[in-house]
Amino acid sequence: MRSELNRDTPLAAPGEFRPLRFGENLVVDPPVVLAPMAGVTNAPYRTLCRELSEGRCLYVSEMITAASFAMGHERTRRMASFGPDEDVKSIQLYGTHPDSLAAATKILVGDWGVDHIDINLGCPVRKVTSAGGGSAIPVRPRLMAKLVSAVVENAAAVPVTVKFRKGIDDDVLTFLDAGRVAEDVGCSAVALHARTAAEFYSGKADWAAIGELKLALSIPVLGNGDIFEALDALRMMRQTGCDGVVVGRACLGRPWLFRELVDVFEGREPPAPPSLGEVATIAKRHADLMVDFFGERAGMLEMRKFLGWYTKSFHGMSQARARLQLVATRAQLDELLDELPADLPYPEGGLRAKRAKSGSRQKVALPDGYLDDRPPFPDPIGGAGISGG
Ligand SMILES: Cc1cc2nc3c(=O)[nH]c(=O)nc-3n(C[C@H](O)[C@H](O)[C@H](O)COP(=O)(O)O)c2cc1C
Repeated sequence: MRSELNRDTPLAAPGEFRPLRFGENLVVDPPVVLAPMAGVTNAPYRTLCRELSEGRCLYVSEMITAASFAMGHERTRRMASFGPDEDVKSIQLYGTHPDSLAAATKILVGDWGVDHIDINLGCPVRKVTSAGGGSAIPVRPRLMAKLVSAVVENAAAVPVTVKFRKGIDDDVLTFLDAGRVAEDVGCSAVALHARTAAEFYSGKADWAAIGELKLALSIPVLGNGDIFEALDALRMMRQTGCDGVVVGRACLGRPWLFRELVDVFEGREPPAPPSLGEVATIAKRHADLMVDFFGERAGMLEMRKFLGWYTKSFHGMSQARARLQLVATRAQLDELLDELPADLPYPEGGLRAKRAKSGSRQKVALPDGYLDDRPPFPDPIGGAGISGG
């Protein structure tokens, strides 16, 4: 199924796109990454996406706070854990202090055997940016260099990548500097969510910025933002020349999207998306994984938001959706899902429907005076500047 926008988008031609390489050992083929999403890309969800796409993509964990991981907080350690099927362990770290990032990295690499660490420098949330964290960090290239180096230097051969936004707002664009810092300190790749923090999730991602970043760097650049259909990934790569794609909201309630991505990168038209009955079967498998991981009560509470996404855009679902939002046990979920009209075909409107965050622009909260004494751009951060501390 294709939307009007992709009616004529060609499938990948043989050899058109190369596998993504992070460092020496990690090869992702096709070059597709499940975006880190807090409250979403936990171990059960990653397993579900892996099962539906033969584990071919890279599936990144939700954001893990380095300080609380390093201190051994039980809840954070649990959030950071991997499923037994995860032969490639990919984790996203967030931190504002080099020491906690270094400590977390040592444990993740030495004891947990992770295969990839991504660093979150794109969080636009007020609580985070007002303390100078998240997307505020690239405004300070030297601070960013220290934080990222703390991970790279303790990661041994494990590849480290950085994910960031275009900048604070249209007046404070940081992505080119952030990309150069990441490259200088030894990152294996960068990912750009092509929106500013002020844009939050509103408007349209600026794919041209991804192309600009690609031209500026020699390490791989991953494009992120507004891939709704598998064919959008091919369009993004063709338009920007980027080396891979990061897919977030589109897979909420559509974990089979990764199978479609594998198909289009291999030059095959994907099969029709699942009917409602087939979606229900996927939701049941998801629920089993959630119950195994969280226990029945917490697992079913966590499932509620996913059930909203699974039924999104199917017509006549409002009453069923309201009941699904109250589901409390695994058995009850079966009952509710079995009542749905199984042969309802997947609605075309589901292909590009907005899921989770869309929101409006925001004024980005920063610490007082944060922009006043920032270094002139481009900041002279050559290698010597960084190693000089
Ligand atoms: C529910 C949700 C949670 C997110 N959590 C994170 C996160 O923990 N770390 C991160 O780097 N980005 C996070 N993001 C941003 C996504 O990784 C991605 O950059 C963004 O959604 C744009 O990509 P998309 O248009 O494919 O959704 C989150 C997005 C959503 C919708």
